[in-house]
This record gives sequence, C-alpha cells and structure tokens, in this order.
Amino acid sequence: MLDDCEEGARRAAEIVAALRTFARGGGEEAWACADLRERLERTLTLLRHRLGPEVRVVRDYAPTPPIECLAGQLDQVWVNLLANACDAVGGRGTITVRLRVGAPPGAPRVLVAIGDDGAGLEPALQARVFEPFFTTKPEGAGTGLGLSVSYGIVARHGGSIAFASTPGQGSVVTVALPLRRAA
Ligand SMILES: Nc1ncnc2c1ncn2[C@@H]1O[C@H](COP(=O)(O)OP(=O)(O)OP(=O)(O)O)[C@@H](O)[C@H]1O
Ligand SMILES: [Mg+2]
Repeated sequence: MLDDCEEGARRAAEIVAALRTFARGGGEEAWACADLRERLERTLTLLRHRLGPEVRVVRDYAPTPPIECLAGQLDQVWVNLLANACDAVGGRGTITVRLRVGAPPGAPRVLVAIGDDGAGLEPALQARVFEPFFTTKPEGAGTGLGLSVSYGIVARHGGSIAFASTPGQGSVVTVALPLRRAA
C-alpha cells in the first residue's frame, strides 16, 4: 500500500510539473526555441491518465533540431491530436508518435506525425475534418474544434497539417513546421 502511495505521489508531482510549464503565461506567449521531443513527452505525461492503461504509445523519434515556435500553443495541437487518436482507438489500441526532419524540396521542416490504429474516417468526410464544429462524435463528447484550432496554430507557424485515414485501419495527422519564424 505504501508503495502505491509513493507511486501515486510521484506521478502527481510529475503531472503538476508538466502542468506548470503547460499553463505558463496565459497572456501572449513569446516566440522561443523549443525541443519538440521534450514538449511531446511532457504532453504525454499530462495525458497518461486520459489515454488509459490499454493504449500503447509507440515513440519513434529521430533527432530533430530545436525550432523557433510558440511552444505552449503547439502543445495544444499535440493534446488535440492525441485526444483524437485516443477516441479513435476507443481507449484500446496503439498510438504512434513520430518525429522526423523533413527532406527538401523547400526549406527544412520538422515533422510530427501522430498515428493510430483506430476506426479511421470514411473518405467522403475526410475533407471536412478541419472545419470548425465538424464532429462525428456524440453530442457532449466532441465540439468539433480540436482540429480547426490546431490548423490555425500550425498556420500561424507557417507550417502545414494534413489528415490521412483508412477506415478500419487508422489515421495519421502530420504537422510540418519550419525551423525558424517567418520574417
Ligand atoms: N484520429 C482520428 N481518427 C478518426 N477520425 C478522426 C481522427 N481525428 C479526427 N477525426 C475526425 O475529425 C472530426 C473532427 O475532429 P476535431 O478534433 O476537430 O473535433 P472532435 O474531436 O470531434 O471534438 P473536440 O476536439 O472539439 O473535442 C472528429 O469528430 C472525427 O470524426
Ligand atoms: Mg478532437
């Protein structure tokens, strides 16, 4: 029992530490260099409870350079994507978090891909996922804002976000971010 208490306390401390950085500011955040791997890990710590014991998280991290960004805003993107992945697998499945450096053409980018082996979405609906208030979730479960808000945040970074899905197999959302803030 004491071991369980200790483990619980340790986990609570971890979550509080993650929350503190997560909630920092409140006002307008400043652009700064951030390590996306570290930010993703922090977000995963916060969401561990939401993901539940039967969701396996596979980390596939290539080394990536720090990027100039609004890290707190990007954290909201990771939360939205991970929450969607969790919903898609119905609390039971595998979520893959992938970090890569994007190859040219064009300026170098860091790619973050969050995939799941969940229900997927039928092709006719895929074009609508970034629309505000588009949701296929029951009333009360989704407001349909997660991806549209994420789209706005990524656009503000001069990046791109893409949704790909195969019904019955799963989905992946890929975010591409430039290394530096556009002039
Ligand atoms: N990983 C995914 N797998 C399958 N469908 C998805 C996935 N992510 C998003 N979608 C589809 O896109 C819709 C819009 O997603 P979005 O995150 O914007 O809203 P939501 O999850 O329904 O609600 P909210 O995020 O506001 O709680 C979802 O309702 C779902 O149909
Ligand atoms: Mg959502």
